[in-house]
Amino acid sequence: LGERAITAHRLAPLPADCWRHLFGNAGPVAVEIGPGRGEFLAAEARHRPEWNFFAIEHSASRAAETAARLQRAGIGNARVVAGDATCLVEWMPPGSVSAFYLLFPDPWWKRRHHKRRLMTPRFVAAVASALHAGATIELVTDVDAYFADAQQVLDGEPALALETTAPRAALSTSFARKAIRRGAAIHRAVYRRTP
Ligand SMILES: C[S@@+](CC[C@H](N)C(=O)[O-])C[C@H]1O[C@@H](n2cnc3c(N)ncnc32)[C@H](O)[C@@H]1O
Repeated sequence: LGERAITAHRLAPLPADCWRHLFGNAGPVAVEIGPGRGEFLAAEARHRPEWNFFAIEHSASRAAETAARLQRAGIGNARVVAGDATCLVEWMPPGSVSAFYLLFPDPWWKRRHHKRRLMTPRFVAAVASALHAGATIELVTDVDAYFADAQQVLDGEPALALETTAPRAALSTSFARKAIRRGAAIHRAVYRRTP
């Protein structure tokens, strides 16, 4: 998508009932950004059958593999699309999402690559707009500096308030397992959309 298309969509986000059309029900919608191999997506979708899960994965091959795995497992309340979350989130109907999950987002270590990071003020504003009042965004990362920078961006969004930084009881994704094997600290922050 060119910048012109992205700007144009701001005048016309997807219709408010798009999730109902996509999932065939009016259940709450959770969005996972960068599901990787989709372990969290599949586990949560199984655990919460009354919810709908929509994942956006930048890698087309990983998205296709995860979609096939969901289908083989008979998980009908989760979808994965290949795409770039930075523009797709801006399309989401305002106040239509109940939870966002970003688990181990790419840290883009080099300073000159920081602009590729997901957690920019524009992205966080789009997330806040898509969330309904009381809904949450959860960030998990094992990269200390990324966590500090991301928290600064999240703290700067007036429509979000920090809810907790308590760790999750259990989290099993490829990157979570790698971090645990390394003995790295796993940071977590949950922010809630203010009314
Ligand atoms: C470090 S991996 C973590 C994968 C998984 N969440 C986990 O915990 O194992 C980051 C994932 O985010 C995806 N990703 C990076 N930038 C993205 C973007 N702009 N939109 C959607 N997915 C993205 C990558 O392709 C990759 O699968």
